[in-house]
Amino acid sequence: MDHKMFSRFACCLVVVWLVSASDESCPELPPVDNSIFVANKMEGKILGTYLCIQGYHLVGEKTLFCNASLEWNGSPPECRFGHCPNPVLANGEFSSLGPVSVNDNITFKCNEHYILKGSSWSQCLEDHTWVPPFPVCKSRHCGPPGNPAHGYFEGGDFSSGSTITYYCEEKYHLVGTQHQQCIDGEWSSAIPVCELIQEAPTPAPQTECEKALESEEVCKAVKKFMQRLQENGLTMEELKYSLEMKKAELAAKMLP
Ligand SMILES: *[C@@H]1O[C@H](CO)[C@@H](O)[C@H](O)[C@H]1NC(C)=O
Ligand SMILES: *[C@@H]1O[C@H](CO)[C@@H](O)[C@H](O)[C@H]1NC(C)=O
Repeated sequence: MDHKMFSRFACCLVVVWLVSASDESCPELPPVDNSIFVANKMEGKILGTYLCIQGYHLVGEKTLFCNASLEWNGSPPECRFGHCPNPVLANGEFSSLGPVSVNDNITFKCNEHYILKGSSWSQCLEDHTWVPPFPVCKSRHCGPPGNPAHGYFEGGDFSSGSTITYYCEEKYHLVGTQHQQCIDGEWSSAIPVCELIQEAPTPAPQTECEKALESEEVCKAVKKFMQRLQENGLTMEELKYSLEMKKAELAAKMLP
């Protein structure tokens, strides 16, 4: 392969082309201060990569490629002062201010009512990145909790440590945790569910007999007795009559 390779120095700028002459079809990119530019061919495409020198970090796209219409797909990045980007931490503070040097180790602290999620420190590495990544400061107060379908909660304080209680509408019962606490920005459990209560079968309406006698047992006995009378083909009147007859018979026998 006929590789053409040249370097150019212009106020800390190094340009390295690792591409054969015939492939050099995209226009030369404008120089970026405090960077090293490397162009090479990968999978048939020409890629241009900017690397910031020690003490500077990159802002923008690190790699550009020369597309089919022989244009770079974006504009060159910038190399800004500080080996790694300036640290950021919303609702908190960190131990260092000003430009960052390689191997700097910064520590993070959150403001009152905020809790730190992630690592409490981070180090600026040789490759211009912070490791581990920056933490975030999360509010220790909870957001308003949701309502389950057919339910609601009582309690208006969502600050850390406070509690709320869930209730269900009539005919629904609660499945899950009824009492919840806000702990460092998170509710202690998931929103409960309100489930429809299965209707119990309604008791059979009272019979005339039960209304009058207020005793199911006695009514059952009476009913059974009446049934037996019917089975024997006797009505109440006939029974009365037969009893009268028996009584008369007995009376007759008693006669001297
Ligand atoms: C190449 O990139 C330029 C600039 O982003 C864009 O305008 C053009 O449409 C691109 N061409 C192709 C073929 O993707
Ligand atoms: C950075 O500083 C913190 C706190 O002083 C320490 O715990 C941690 O180990 C340090 N990290 C490195 C890579 O030195």
